[in-house]
Amino acid sequence: MAKKRFAVLGNPVAHSRSPEIHQDFARQTGMELSYEKILVPTGKFREVATDFLALDGVGFNITLPCKGDAFAFVDHKSSSASKSRAVNTVSVDSNGQIHGDNTDGPGLVRDLVHNLNWKIEEQRILVLGAGGAVRGILWDLLQASPRYLHLYNRTLSKALVLTEQMADARMTAVDTGDLEDCYDLVINGTSAGLSGMVPRVPKKVLGKHSRCYDLVYGSGATVFNNWCSQINGCEVADGLGMLVEQAALSFHLWFSEEVHTGELISTLRKTGSS
Ligand code: ATR
Repeated sequence: MAKKRFAVLGNPVAHSRSPEIHQDFARQTGMELSYEKILVPTGKFREVATDFLALDGVGFNITLPCKGDAFAFVDHKSSSASKSRAVNTVSVDSNGQIHGDNTDGPGLVRDLVHNLNWKIEEQRILVLGAGGAVRGILWDLLQASPRYLHLYNRTLSKALVLTEQMADARMTAVDTGDLEDCYDLVINGTSAGLSGMVPRVPKKVLGKHSRCYDLVYGSGATVFNNWCSQINGCEVADGLGMLVEQAALSFHLWFSEEVHTGELISTLRKTGSS
């Protein structure tokens, strides 16, 4: 039987660990698949995605900055995709209809709740940033019943727009003066770390019991997590678990198979992630 063809589409895409993650899931479940990395030239998402599906592509993942293009490309969207206006998983049904899902938000929630055993329910959450990465997680965080969620961004207007789109009474865009002391959970969704920086935020947002999660991951502790650990020794985690969990949810959409993720997360951490 021919291997089913999958891929991740994005730009850049060379760094993606999705092929090794999905090959691990395939081994676990006895599925046969190929999984490629496809670079999408600027403005060419629709063309590349159409060609991939025309050439026996069964489904694909989408990484930054193409999740909005994928949202526009699909025929049907899941609630998470609709609310976040982002699609990271595409599948095609037996009628040829193209479905778009967002597994980033649910993947984060699974990592927080099941892998790390951190609570979301009734927690006071601060999310930093208001770009594409944050847009993909807000709705699912809200579905997990926090007491409230404050969104803080260097450019306040972008946080206000996202808050308006989410339309949830528990979520507020906050300015520096509205930031509270000692949030239960602080999530960094800014791209400041890519330039070796920590987003400017007063230290008081972190208390002894605050937990800090960086959506990105790297070969060592992220700059943000280093900063948080230094303040009151906060417990920290990076986005490697979220990466594997979102992939597990994509795999489930494609194959209706459950996979184990714990061991794979440890292996990926040991073999270096970038
Ligand atoms: P992504 O798709 O990774 O989310 P993005 O959509 O470009 O990338 O968004 C980047 C986010 O990181 C934005 O919220 C950005 O803040 P602005 O909206 O003010 O640009 C935030 N960001 C990037 N560099 C930052 C820095 N040095 N300090 C604080 N926030 C930063």
